[in-house]
Amino acid sequence: MTRTILITSGKGGVGKTTLTSNLAYALTQLGENVIAVDANLTTPNLGMHFGMHLAPRTLQDVLKGNVRLEQAMYNHPYGFRVIPASMFTKDLEGVDVGKLQNVTLGLTGKADYVLLDCAAGLGREATSAVAAADEMLIVTNPDLPSVADALKTAEVARRMNKSIIGVVINRSTGGKHELGINAIKEILELPVIASIPEDRLVAESISAKRPIMDYASDSPAAVEILKLASKLSGRTYVESKKNAGMLRRLIAWMKG
Ligand SMILES: Nc1ncnc2c1ncn2[C@@H]1O[C@H](COP(=O)(O)OP(=O)(O)OP(=O)(O)O)[C@@H](O)[C@H]1O
Ligand SMILES: [Mg+2]
Repeated sequence: MTRTILITSGKGGVGKTTLTSNLAYALTQLGENVIAVDANLTTPNLGMHFGMHLAPRTLQDVLKGNVRLEQAMYNHPYGFRVIPASMFTKDLEGVDVGKLQNVTLGLTGKADYVLLDCAAGLGREATSAVAAADEMLIVTNPDLPSVADALKTAEVARRMNKSIIGVVINRSTGGKHELGINAIKEILELPVIASIPEDRLVAESISAKRPIMDYASDSPAAVEILKLASKLSGRTYVESKKNAGMLRRLIAWMKG
């Protein structure tokens, strides 16, 4: 069964693309078959995170009906597949975002996970992505503006009868000024499924066009993302102190 999961947020810049790229990597490492789709058509970044930003055929071409889905899907050396979006604004002409649903329907049965990186906000681009997914993760930073905007995203998702897996808090420092996990849970009335710390290596990894999980697998953010991927896929994460490195770390996974 294919799970189509949207990584979304109300506020921009909270870490959706970073989470999408790293979840694609982590789930693949856990043995899942993953397709990552850049559904942020106006300000796409996912291709950049993967070093695939100049792909000749993109999601815009698919949405315009110029190419078949398979023609805009690329095998990444990490083992997952990617449908990137074009960086060029001229490629947006004639794109019908409402057809995003046809794309996810077309991917059903072709992977275990289809991860959609979403545009921020509640515009047509974002709501079309919500419509195209079955489940969603809502990303927020631990501050009032991000959480207030996440509340609106949750409201839209509920109205559209979408299943919200939970909230991912990103860039947490544990500072006194921040909203804590319980406060965010209470405000959003949703479970907090992960809390990823602020980690300076994230920016370095993006610059290297590698997921943090590959760039620095033992970094605090990488460890939390692996825990999230394990949880998402119904596995139990067990950390071994003896073995360093993600691949050598003992991960016991038991489905269901
Ligand atoms: N855990 C983290 N620690 C430190 N920096 C982070 C972390 N997660 C993301 N960042 C930084 O935050 C910035 C924004 O991340 P990202 O592009 O993933 O957000 P986004 O929600 O996709 O943004 P947009 O709404 O514009 O699409 C990036 O420059 C990245 O370096
Ligand atoms: Mg983004």
